[in-house]
Amino acid sequence: MNPFERIVNRYKNLPKVDLTQGRSIAYSRSITRRAMELIDANSQGNVHGGVIMRMVDEAAGVVAIKHSQCPTVVTARVERFDFLAPAFIGDVVSVNCEMHYVGRTSMEVGVEVTAEDLITREVRRIASSYVIYVALDENRKPTPVPPLVPADDEEEAIIERARIRRLHRQRIDEELKQIQEISSQNS
Ligand SMILES: CC(C)(COP(=O)(O)OP(=O)(O)OC[C@H]1O[C@@H](n2cnc3c(N)ncnc32)[C@H](O)[C@@H]1OP(=O)(O)O)[C@@H](O)C(=O)NCCC(=O)NCCS
Repeated sequence: MNPFERIVNRYKNLPKVDLTQGRSIAYSRSITRRAMELIDANSQGNVHGGVIMRMVDEAAGVVAIKHSQCPTVVTARVERFDFLAPAFIGDVVSVNCEMHYVGRTSMEVGVEVTAEDLITREVRRIASSYVIYVALDENRKPTPVPPLVPADDEEEAIIERARIRRLHRQRIDEELKQIQEISSQNS
């Protein structure tokens, strides 16, 4: 069987997802790791920001797929991307991702990135981000995903902070839309 046939067959008989069955944050938590190589860095040995961003998008996407059990999730937004410290060739970069909030079809994944020097074993926090994915159906339309249900008080606090962030984000989007409408009327 060629690889494309295998992919097509795999997605032909997808399990029916029970949308009443909530999932915890722990259910989809995920870590990906990779040692940084020459190709990842500039001539000074610093890892390119874009390399870290790609790792984050891939790793956070894994969480969105695990939670939703939907094979097609697209990145709708990178809410923040803060580079806190550099990573260097030879460091092992770990991307720690967990689901923070689930709407009807969208999912916010929180990401913390660390770099470990394998010789000294020093671990540095190098980046953080929030990435929002939307699950799509076979017609590439947004499709509902299972709710996020906290397993304990800690998870409940994470979800509540994300809920406030979402409200804040929606308010800013609305304000920006109004500003754009006013400036297009004036031009
Ligand atoms: C993301 C996308 C599917 C949204 O489509 P849409 O028709 O605007 O969807 P809707 O307005 O019905 O919104 C669907 C959900 O997405 C959320 N959403 C849409 N755009 C968003 C954005 N820019 N930021 C945050 N959330 C967003 C909505 O809040 C809604 O969430 P909810 O269902 O949890 O309440 C569409 O804009 C798209 O396909 N974008 C390109 C994605 C892509 O190619 N990414 C890069 C490669 S993976």
